[in-house]
Amino acid sequence: MQRIFIEEIAKYEGQEVLLRGWLTSRRSKGKIHFLQLRDGTGFIQATAFKGELPDEQFEQADHLPQETALEVTGLVRADSRAPGGYELSVRGINVVALPSKEYPITPKEHGVEFLMDHRHLYIRHRRAWAVLRVRDELERAIHDFFHQRGFIRLDTPILTPNAVEGTTDLFEVDLFDGEKAYLSQSGQLYAEAGALAFGKVYTFGPTFRAERSKTRRHLLEFWMIEPEVAFMTHEENMQLQEDLVAYLVGRCLEEKKRELEMLERDTTVLQTTAQGHYPRLHYTQAVEMVNQIAREKPELQLTPMQWGDDFGAPHEAALTAQFDRPVFVEKYPAAVKAFYMQPDPEDPRLVLNADLLAPEGVGEIIGGSQRIHDPDLLRQKIREHGLPEEVFDWYMDLRLFGTVPHSGFGIGLERTVRWICGIEHIREAIPFPRMYTRMRP
Ligand code: 4AD
Repeated sequence: MQRIFIEEIAKYEGQEVLLRGWLTSRRSKGKIHFLQLRDGTGFIQATAFKGELPDEQFEQADHLPQETALEVTGLVRADSRAPGGYELSVRGINVVALPSKEYPITPKEHGVEFLMDHRHLYIRHRRAWAVLRVRDELERAIHDFFHQRGFIRLDTPILTPNAVEGTTDLFEVDLFDGEKAYLSQSGQLYAEAGALAFGKVYTFGPTFRAERSKTRRHLLEFWMIEPEVAFMTHEENMQLQEDLVAYLVGRCLEEKKRELEMLERDTTVLQTTAQGHYPRLHYTQAVEMVNQIAREKPELQLTPMQWGDDFGAPHEAALTAQFDRPVFVEKYPAAVKAFYMQPDPEDPRLVLNADLLAPEGVGEIIGGSQRIHDPDLLRQKIREHGLPEEVFDWYMDLRLFGTVPHSGFGIGLERTVRWICGIEHIREAIPFPRMYTRMRP
C-alpha cells in the first residue's frame, strides 16, 4: 500500500493509503472512534468503525494515549465537515511506539511559561506548527526574491572584531590569550565589501544583541537578512524594501493560506500590503503626527516627543495605526543613528535612512540607509562615535579603492513572522527563542 502524506491527501480520494504519524487526541461515540492524527505535513481525522478493522485493533484504539506513534491504513474520503476537507476511514492500526509517560501538553489551557518550557514538544501543536511553516515559506521566498533579481548570498562571520550598531548590546566572547571577539550584531559591513565585489548581495544569518529587556519584539538571537547594493540610492533602497515586503506577504497569502486560517489571521491589511505603495513620512512629520495623536487621544498616554528623540514602541504603534499598510519613516537625525549613514545633502543634521514600520501596532521590521562613501567623512564619523579606528581599517579600504554610493537594509525575520502571523509575542516566531529570561530548552 502506498504511504502518503496528509498535505497531498486530496490526490488519493477513494483510495486506500498508509499514513505514518502521531495521535493528537481521540474521542469515541458508541461503535466509532474519532482519532485526530498528525504526520508533520498536516492534521486529519481518522474514523474507525467497529467491524471495519480487526476487533483487537478497534479495542486498542480506545486506549491509545496522546502522542502514540502510529501507522494507519484507510480509505480517503472527501467530507466537507472535516477541517481539511478529507477524512480517513480506518482499515488497520499498527502502534509504532507508545509514550513512556503521560504527555504533558493536554488539550486544557496551559500558561505561556509552561508551553515555552515544553517548546520542544509544543512545536508539534497546531499553532506553533502553523507559525513555523509560515517562517519556512518566508525563508524560501526571501531567497527566491533576491535570486530572481540577480543577488548572490554572501555568508558573513558570526565572530567579529567590532560593533556595528552601537556597543551597548554586544555579546563578548573570550578568544585565546585574552583576546576578545563579539557575536555579530549585523553582517552589514561585510555585505558592503560584498556589494563592491559582486554588485548585489544579501546575507541571511543569525544575529546577536544583548538586550537586557523584556519586550514583545526583542530576542537575544534573531535572524536578519541584509541586502547591500553598489550604486543604489536611498530612494531606490526604499523601493527595494517595498518590493520585498509586498512579495513576501503576497507569497504567504498564496502559499500559506491554510496556516493563516489556522492562526485565525484577519488578512485585510496583508492584502493591501501585498499591493505596495507604502506611504513615506519624513522623521519630522512623523514626530508631529505622534504628538498630534498624543493630544487628540490622551487615553493612549503617549509621551510627547521632542525633535531628536527616537520613537518608542508605543509611538510606533500609534503611528502605524493610521495606515492600512507598512509606512516608511525616513531621514532621522544623525545623532540617533549609526556612524555609517550618509548625511542628507538638503539638511546635514539628518541622514539618508529609513525604517519600515509594519501596521497593526507592530512597528519596525526593517532598518536601512545609504552609506557614507567619502573616506574623509567616514573617518570623521568613526572618530565622533568614539570607535576604535584600527578595527575599521579594512572597512575604510572599501572607500579607498573605487568607492561608490551604496545602500542596504536589514529585515528582521522574526519580527516579520510575528506580524504576518498576527501573533502577540516574538518568542513564538522562532523555533527555540533566546531571550533575557529564557535560554531553555
Ligand atoms: O535597525 P537595525 O539595528 O539595523 C541594522 O542592524 C543594520 N545594520 C541593517 C542594515 O542596514 N544592513 O536592525 C534591523 C532589523 C530591525 O528592523 C528588526 O527587524 C531586527 O533587525 N532586529 C531585531 N529583531 C529581533 N530582536 C532584536 N533584538 C532585534 N534587533 C533588531
